[in-house]
This record gives sequence, structure tokens and C-alpha cells, in this order.
Amino acid sequence: METEVIVIEESDMDEEALEGLKKAGQIIRDGGLVAFPTETVYGLGGDALNPLSSKKIYAAKGRPSDNPLIVHVANMDDLADIVKEVPEAARKLADAFWPGPLTMIMNKNDKVPYETTGGLDTVAIRMPNNKIALELIRQSGGYIAAPSANTSGRPSPTVARYCVEDLSGKIEMIIDGGQVGIGLESTIVDLTSEVPMILRPGYITAQMLEDVLGKISIDKTIIDSTSTEKPKAPGMKYKHYAPKGDLMIVQGAQDNVVSYINDKSQQAMAEGKRVGVIATDATKAMYRADVVKSVGNREDESTIAHELFKVLREFDDEQIDIMFSESFDDSGIGQAIMNRLLKAAGHNIKSV
Ligand code: TXA
Ligand code: MG
Repeated sequence: METEVIVIEESDMDEEALEGLKKAGQIIRDGGLVAFPTETVYGLGGDALNPLSSKKIYAAKGRPSDNPLIVHVANMDDLADIVKEVPEAARKLADAFWPGPLTMIMNKNDKVPYETTGGLDTVAIRMPNNKIALELIRQSGGYIAAPSANTSGRPSPTVARYCVEDLSGKIEMIIDGGQVGIGLESTIVDLTSEVPMILRPGYITAQMLEDVLGKISIDKTIIDSTSTEKPKAPGMKYKHYAPKGDLMIVQGAQDNVVSYINDKSQQAMAEGKRVGVIATDATKAMYRADVVKSVGNREDESTIAHELFKVLREFDDEQIDIMFSESFDDSGIGQAIMNRLLKAAGHNIKSV
């Protein structure tokens, strides 16, 4: 299949952009697939209420079909159309954070096919904060099921060229809306348990949710990397975000981290390996390796969230065999950053 790529600027949605989105909406109505930008990562969208569309999404990503999709809506009123009942907590959280990087899990009604929810009786729903995404949902005339627009297991795309790399020839259209704002997938909170539970950390932190809801809990498999329990979000159990080369996270005092990474890099380069280092603005100049990239500024960890997946992908482009990364604070958005980085590294973390 020929994949059409169209470019739309979110800040300049003119007539032509609208025409493009109408066409994209029609593709989704007809049961086809369109990759599109959201504020978190690019999504691979299909009609959420069409079981065949969901099947196509799994096939295009190479994703196991027990890993449910997130349904994207453009209006708060749409919720009542696809869930059994809208919990009070959902109204409060939507008021506070929608449109935005928060996905809520509720009990689905019969309209939502099991193909979309990976066989579960619950459905994950989010209203993205991106004008292109919202207009696409409206133009599709319904709701859009969209996982991240990457081949299963690879880092989520934060720029359109990585959607092209993974999905070209497999879907009808890719909308290039530039680099996304946040860079990590939405926070997922399950509202079907008595105490709402975070199943995946993201830009909306536990503290922000507690400020609105009072007590919440966190799926312990997220914070305890040694836990052998099954994560409550099926997708969190799969290998994820993995770059092609081996990645090791190194944590400790800055001087120790820098000298450990430089020693190990030397050794690996002497063995003929291509070595990459994920540094920060303050440390970038201290490393000696084939490729050294700053992922952002520790003073503002949202800069790190913004660049992390892109940097992981760029190391693949550079044919890097071995990567070392600095470690990050595990608070606020740092919890989401470390969650993704640990998965990308297969939990290979060294204290020095
Ligand atoms: O920011 C995001 O959420 C992006 C953009 C495109 O919106 N989407 C995204 O989708 O990250 P995906 O499919 O890559 O991740 C969805 C996660 C998976 O871990 C899945 O297991 C979990 O959500 N999930 C979906 N429905 C669920 C449900 N009913 N119960 C538990 N977990 C669910
Ligand atoms: Mg994903």
C-alpha cells in the first residue's frame, strides 16, 4: 500500500490543512489507518468502534492482540456514549486535565468492541491536547483508537519520520505535525478500582492527581522493578522502547558516573564497538565516545521527556552498538522518564 504523507502545522490550520484532515477522517470512516500527532507521542489511529480497524492496528504495529488500545475523544459528552457510567472522578479529572496527557480507564459499554480493548470489559479513554488530533477525531465522525505509532517494542515516535520508518507501506496516511510537545505517553489512571490507580506514569504526576481526587495508588510493578507481579496495564509487561543497541543506565555522583562511562566506552571502542552516551547539557562535554548526545537540562526535566525517545531513535540511526545513559531523579515527571528509560534498558542499571 502507498502511504500518503501530509504536513500540517498545528499553529497554522488553514483551508488546505482542513482539506487534508477531511481526507484523513474519511480514511478512518472507511476502516483505514492514519498516523497523527498528539501532544504526547504520535498515534496510529483507526475507528475505535470498528473491530476490523482495531485488528488492522495490531497487524500494522506487530502488537500482541491482548494489549488494549486507547480510545481518543474530542468531547467530554462522548464519554457517556462508550462507558457504562461516567464516574464522578472522571468528571473531576477531565475538568482539571482534558484535553491533555491523561488516560482514564472505565467500564466499557457494548458499543466498544473487544478487539479494541484487547478482550477487557474496561476501556482506556483520553482527549488529546493537539488541534490536529482533535480535528481529525471530529472529521472521523466518531472516536479514534490509537496506540503509539511505532512498531511494537520500539521507542514511541515523537517526530513523523519515525512513523514513516515503522509504518510506511502499512497504513493509508501519515500526518506530519512536527515534533510533539511532551514526548512521553499519557499518564494512565484506572478509575474502576476503589482507589484510583496509576498504571503508567506520565506528565500528569501522582501529586497532580491527588490534588484533584485525594488518595490514589500506584501499580507497584511500576515503582518496584524487582516485582514479579503482572502489571495491570497489559502493555506494561511487554518489552518496550528498546533501541537496537544495548543500553546501560549508570547512577551515582556525577564525577563517578562520568569516569565510569568514559572507562567503559574506551573499552568498548577498543573492541571495535560503536558507543553512544546519553548525557545532559551540563555533562555533554565531559564524555568521550563515538556519539554523545544531550537529552536535555536537569533543571527542567520536561526537556528530557521531550527528547528521550528521539535520542534513542537517533542512536539507532547512528548504528550504535552500546549506549550508556545518565540516571534521573525519580520524582515528578522523572518517574515517567525513569520508567521508560529502565524499560528501554531492560532494567540494566549500575550504581557507581
Ligand atoms: O499518550 C498516549 O497515551 C499515546 C497517544 C497516541 O495518545 N498512546 C499510547 O498508546 O501510548 P499505547 O497503545 O502505546 O499504550 C496504551 C497502554 C498500554 O500499556 C495498554 O496496555 C494500556 O494503555 N491500556 C489500554 N487500555 C487498557 C485497559 N482497559 N486496562 C488497562 N490498561 C489499558
Ligand atoms: Mg506504545
